[in-house]
Amino acid sequence: MRGGRPSASAGKSPSFKLLLLVVLSVAGLVLLLRSAVASSGGAAGPPSQRATGPSSYKRVLDLDRARASCGAADPTKHVVFLTGTGGFVGFHTARELRRQGHGVLGLDNFNDYYSTKLKRDRQHILEKEGVYTVEGDIADGDFVAEVLRACPFTHVLHLAAQAGVRYAAKNPLAYVHSNLLGFVTLLEAVKAMDEMLPVVYASSSSVYGLNDKVPFSEQDRVDRPASLYAATKKSNEMIAHTYYNIYGMSLTGLRFFTVYGPYGRPDMAYFFFTQRILSGEEIQVFKGPNGEQVQRDFTYIDDIVDGVIGALETSPKSTKEEAEYRVFNLGNTNPEPVTALVQNLEDILGKKGNTRVVPMPATGDVLATHANVSAAYEAFGYQPKTDLRTGLKKFVDWYAEYYGVSLPK
Ligand SMILES: NC(=O)c1ccc[n+]([C@@H]2O[C@H](COP(=O)([O-])OP(=O)(O)OC[C@H]3O[C@@H](n4cnc5c(N)ncnc54)[C@H](O)[C@@H]3O)[C@@H](O)[C@H]2O)c1
Repeated sequence: MRGGRPSASAGKSPSFKLLLLVVLSVAGLVLLLRSAVASSGGAAGPPSQRATGPSSYKRVLDLDRARASCGAADPTKHVVFLTGTGGFVGFHTARELRRQGHGVLGLDNFNDYYSTKLKRDRQHILEKEGVYTVEGDIADGDFVAEVLRACPFTHVLHLAAQAGVRYAAKNPLAYVHSNLLGFVTLLEAVKAMDEMLPVVYASSSSVYGLNDKVPFSEQDRVDRPASLYAATKKSNEMIAHTYYNIYGMSLTGLRFFTVYGPYGRPDMAYFFFTQRILSGEEIQVFKGPNGEQVQRDFTYIDDIVDGVIGALETSPKSTKEEAEYRVFNLGNTNPEPVTALVQNLEDILGKKGNTRVVPMPATGDVLATHANVSAAYEAFGYQPKTDLRTGLKKFVDWYAEYYGVSLPK
């Protein structure tokens, strides 16, 4: 090259070339990520919505309605900020807290991971019963802080999340947005309060991942998640420990085991199996690699609500002196094979399903779940009462009424 025009990098040191290479690679990666995000449906909203529908979420806070929902000052009652009231567990928990005379203010972004009609119907029922749901996203820190200033809250009950094990393989960023960014944003808003509140939040039995020692105990190591969903829930528990350790925030994580019941989630097997038995569509029942039956510790919603309220009422204050870091299993302690779920639904619906047994796909489901609930029993007397048959009957009765299906007498 002697005598010619030097190229831009000619004559520069090898470390300069390396730096240039790194800068160009990072710029390329950023461009690639931006186009991936844009192609998933627009860049304005949270990922949970980008991939599932319209791009932006709303911020709707009517202060008068919020204050009415929080209730009159009564020192014997709680005032709970409850995220995820558009969702299955949040809806039932809000109803029960309200029924017991506590103040509740809900929050939900009403994303369309599943039927928004079902979420809005839950919202309207809650409104009739005196619980107002603010519309917004938990990852919107300024808005969450504004909502926390609306009432004299005594507790935060955080149930909003991107749920679902299999969907995590399709839309991982929705889990990062709601379960990681949303979780930390909420804890930061609580941390910034003059007096931090105790926080109870939903973890999941999925944190037990590939563990095969049953029943699952809170003492077991949980560091082999089988799905990104599980990894985000396990991360929540570790993040919670950090806020407890540094700031003295009181944090209770609840590992729910396959919750079912009226107004449940259409993405869960008991729900879409019911739909498919009625329509005659095929039902796929998974089997393990050695032909094992898949089993779940199906837990009825009323039992979960009892546990959630028990955990709330026993949560210590968020002060350095009193705070505790707690994790509890909330399950039924009686796992049943998925074939028993199908059999029970067929009996109740009076119709045989078109069942096919197929190998379990590698999308994060585990073979079996089984809860040991002795810690929750000791802490707040948690004792599940509803067997699968009784709970499914209540679900099917609701389903038939909600969707206008007539069942055999
Ligand atoms: N149902 C179960 O079997 C089960 C099992 C284990 C753990 N959990 C956990 O329990 C909690 C409640 O579950 P569920 O079954 O009621 O689920 P759900 O999907 O019915 O309810 C979650 C609600 O949170 C809302 N939401 C999601 N991301 C949000 C965000 N970024 N900002 C505001 N709102 C948001 C959704 O719109 C939804 O209404 C979740 O944390 C879930 O992961 C549920």
